Amino acid sequence: MAAMQNERLQAFVDEVAARTDLLQVVQTYVPLKRKGGRYWGCCPFHQEKTPSFSVEPEKGLFYCFGCHAGGNAFKFLSLMENVSYFEAIKLQAEKLGIELPKRKLTPAEEQRERERKDLLRVNELARDFFHNCLTLTKIGEPGRRYLAGRGITEATIKAFSLGFAPPAWDKLKTAFQKRGVTEKLLLGSGLCLPRREGDGIYDRFRGRMMIPIADERGRVVGFGGRVLDDSVPKYLNTPETILFNKRYLLFGLDRAHHAIAREGYAIIVEGYMDAIAVFGAGIENVVATLGTAFTVEHAKKLMRYARRLIFCYDSDEAGQSATIRALSILQNTGAEVSVLRVPDGKDPDEFIRKNGADAFRALTREALSLVDFRMEYVLAHTRHDTLSGKVQALHQMAPVFQGMGAGAARTEYVKRLASALMLEEDVVRDELRRGSREREAAPERTPLRREIRRSDSALDKAGRVLVRLATSDPGRLSEAETLVPLERVLGIVQLEILSALKKGGSETDIQAALSDEAAAELSRAQVDEGLLAGRSEEAAYQDALRVLKKAYLNQKYMEHSQLAEKYLEAGNPAYRVELQRVEAIKHELEEMESE
Ligand code: UTP
Ligand code: MN
Repeated sequence: MAAMQNERLQAFVDEVAARTDLLQVVQTYVPLKRKGGRYWGCCPFHQEKTPSFSVEPEKGLFYCFGCHAGGNAFKFLSLMENVSYFEAIKLQAEKLGIELPKRKLTPAEEQRERERKDLLRVNELARDFFHNCLTLTKIGEPGRRYLAGRGITEATIKAFSLGFAPPAWDKLKTAFQKRGVTEKLLLGSGLCLPRREGDGIYDRFRGRMMIPIADERGRVVGFGGRVLDDSVPKYLNTPETILFNKRYLLFGLDRAHHAIAREGYAIIVEGYMDAIAVFGAGIENVVATLGTAFTVEHAKKLMRYARRLIFCYDSDEAGQSATIRALSILQNTGAEVSVLRVPDGKDPDEFIRKNGADAFRALTREALSLVDFRMEYVLAHTRHDTLSGKVQALHQMAPVFQGMGAGAARTEYVKRLASALMLEEDVVRDELRRGSREREAAPERTPLRREIRRSDSALDKAGRVLVRLATSDPGRLSEAETLVPLERVLGIVQLEILSALKKGGSETDIQAALSDEAAAELSRAQVDEGLLAGRSEEAAYQDALRVLKKAYLNQKYMEHSQLAEKYLEAGNPAYRVELQRVEAIKHELEEMESE
């Protein structure tokens, strides 16, 4: 039964793939020009003026030499339309008029699917109900006055479908029940609550301005409602439902994601009114958390569009410590973070109201680097006039210094920290170094960070050659594996590709199995003409093997030298064996050099 369904699904995917014309797909979004066997255009995934985005219709692959996005037609669609790979296939099938094979859902799946659909529909109805109430009815008058008082324009009210919940116990309930919405749905969506005494239900949101909250695809999953005066709670949100999970949701992402990709960064603010104000000021790459802490899930979502994240939380104490917590969440994710501090007024919304959009835009250009922000925060939160306070401040600063690497910037920061703490620079340097050595003793592998840097070392290139050859001749991969332990030298992205290639399957299947990074890297390996650099495949393969082997030997060299040193310090005679190993490896490396 299941096998039969898989077969039909496979046939469906194959047909869509066969009838999909990459060039046509891309050209509906990006103007392309032909040059040689390739087509070129300006990349839709990052901002550029000269085209580095290329399409090779023959291979069915696109690749951007600027931002390294890449993959096949479905990857392109999934990135462009912000949907999963399989949803991209379905989208394309729809365009081609190919019907999706109807899979029989289990009764439980069907039930859940129905519930989701019903909830989405009720939420959509509620959004319109609140919006109409605000814009068309007399009851909406206080809401209109409130929004006008906050400087929110009609254009913004429309763009965000802002609304107003009537100040009554059952207006929504009555209207919805008339339209056949069940009590169960009204409760399940969080729009109504059960009466405490007796039967029946009543409206949760009353006398509040309403902000619909959408998921990434723009489907309304919940609401935030703000009182019009100083009563409490100031904001009331939809409770957790099967659609509404604050750990994953970011307000505004459905509108912001194109701008985030284009600008190369996202601005994260604390409240939806801030996001609305910033967006209204013409800065569209802004999202807000929903009154909860910033999570790793939020980071992952945003980093699909850009790696730079600018936090712009309230300038009060709560906002600043929330920033510190967000920054610690982001350690080792590869995100490049900075902090924008609102100097005048409590939050971005107030700042923009007081100083205008241009002033805010100027601020975004002056965001503090992580180190600057952390330094100010630490200095403000330690009693660094005492010796123990100074040590504490140094320890708190150590992690960001470690992430900085050597160089002029580091020297400059050491100088500044030393002067702020009134210590000698040498003392600061030593203390920071000691701090980082202690951490290295328990090395934390951070493949994500390493990989995301997307460096382009000889090792990366060698791995890429291997990826390219493995697609045409899997035998070479098996051979390479016996010669060098690839998992020790290659990055996770290339390893991911190689293991997918080993599993085999059609090109569409392989792309489907790959993460976005891996799909891009695979495209790159296949379309990059510089990769073989005029060498024959065999010569390129041999060169790649040498590079990989050397990297492996170098790693072993380091490992055994460190062991030898450790044993020596501990007075353990085993150090001799280690030294011999080191010598042998060195010898082998020298042989390779002279070959
Ligand atoms: P703030 O209190 O900073 O609100 O809460 P704000 O964004 O400045 O709102 P205005 O300008 O006074 O209208 C920030 C976020 O915390 C959550 C909301 O998500 C809000 O956007 N919050 C705040 C709640 O969920 N409930 C509350 O009672 C208060
Ligand atoms: Mn505010």
